[in-house]
Parts: sequence; C-alpha cells; structure tokens
Amino acid sequence: MKDDNKLKSELQKEIDKDSFRKRLTRFTWQAYNKIPTIKEPKILDIGCGSGIPTIDLAVLSKGKITAVDIDGKALNLLKDKIKALYLTDHITLVRRSMTKLRFKKDYFDIIWAEGSIAVIGFEQGLKDWYRFLKPGGYLVVHDSLLNYNESVRLISTFNYTLVHHFIISEQVWYEEYFKPLGKCISDLQVKYSKNYRIMKLLEEESVEIEQFKESPKDFASVFYVMQKVS
Ligand SMILES: C[S@@+](CC[C@H](N)C(=O)[O-])C[C@H]1O[C@@H](n2cnc3c(N)ncnc32)[C@H](O)[C@@H]1O
Repeated sequence: MKDDNKLKSELQKEIDKDSFRKRLTRFTWQAYNKIPTIKEPKILDIGCGSGIPTIDLAVLSKGKITAVDIDGKALNLLKDKIKALYLTDHITLVRRSMTKLRFKKDYFDIIWAEGSIAVIGFEQGLKDWYRFLKPGGYLVVHDSLLNYNESVRLISTFNYTLVHHFIISEQVWYEEYFKPLGKCISDLQVKYSKNYRIMKLLEEESVEIEQFKESPKDFASVFYVMQKVS
C-alpha cells in the first residue's frame, strides 16, 4: 500500500493548483508594468513557492532573479520548470527562511513578495527588506486586503512611497481560482468515491474552498507597488 505522503503528492499532481494560480498572473504583469523600465534588474522574490510569479518576472524583466523559499519541495518543482524553460541564467534558487535573509545592502532593484509577507507581518517585511533595496528601488507586495488601512499607514512610516496599488476582488478570486479548483476537486470526488483514503485527502484539499465560501471577502487581495525613498 502507498504511504500517505506518496498518495498525497500524486493527488496534488492531479489537482495541479499551479494551473489555477496561473490564471492570476496577469496581475503580476499589471504590477510589474507600473515600474519604470530597469535594464536587466536584480530581483529578489521572497516566498516564491513553485514559482508562478517568478517565471513571469524572469520573462518580463530579462534580469537576474533570486528566488527564496523555505519549502524544498516547492523549490524542486520550480527547479524543473526553470530547466524546461531554459531560464537557468536568470533564476537562482535559495532555500532559506525569510527570517534569515542575508544579502548585500542596497543590492536589489526590485523586491517581490506575493502571498508571503504575512509570514512575518507587513510591518516586519517593510522593515527587514528595506536594507536590501537600492535607494529608489521598488518593493511589490501582494497581500490580503483585510489590513489595507494599516498597511498604507506603514508604507509611509517606513520610508517608502506608494506608487500604485490595485485590488483583486473576491469575485475574481472565485472565478479564476476557487471555482475551477472546486470543480476539479468535485470531479476527483466522483472519480475516487470508493477510495476512502483519497476521499479523506480530498476533504483536506477542500478546506480552503470551504473557508472561501464562509467568508469570501477575506480573500480579496491587494498589490502594493512601493518605492524606497532615496
Ligand atoms: C501563498 S505561497 C505564495 C507562493 C508564490 N509567491 C505565489 O504567489 O504563488 C507562500 C509561500 O511562502 C513560503 N514561506 C512560508 N514561510 C516562509 C519562510 N519562513 N521563509 C520563506 N518562505 C516561506 C511558503 O513555502 C510558500 O511557498
């Protein structure tokens, strides 16, 4: 009998959340296009995961991306994508916690963090990452909309200018992510209805969909494009 981890990773391949996540990358493009052109920028992608935004940033910028995450499995997935897309000259992977980042001062043109700043909190992220950015460099954060007012206050407190921001509504999250993900999971529940172990795993995979249904507003998000005041 397959062990639970193997079964889970096979099921995750079948669910392929990345394929739904990709439907939101137009917002990564929208945010990137708010930054004035920088030739071959050095970009730090914090909490890159399996690299859906990372790949797009490499394509958009033609620069050098340092992609950091604590999760070795996600980085391995990203490593395979980088090889397949011939992006090895553009993306370097670093397995490390964002609480232990070590880079030169004033080094990066852009720091990018989608869905990850909550790990240390918006305030700590703004504080910790400031020193790695060149004066005039850009920090782009994609975060929950729930703390919008406090986040906007912190941006100016910590010496950044808010250049641009835009919201991704709960409706967009529903149409582009939760609805297709829900459909995929329902199809699998039909396919594996007689397999108790897989049905149990599918229940776990449904948790975020249930959370969304209970409180859709909590899932709206916002992109902040900030500039380090020189
Ligand atoms: C919601 S995912 C976002 C992934 C990717 N940025 C995206 O938008 O698709 C959050 C990522 O933060 C990473 N993460 C969580 N804690 C971390 C830490 N302490 N240091 C670095 N990365 C961390 C997770 O492993 C996960 O890949």
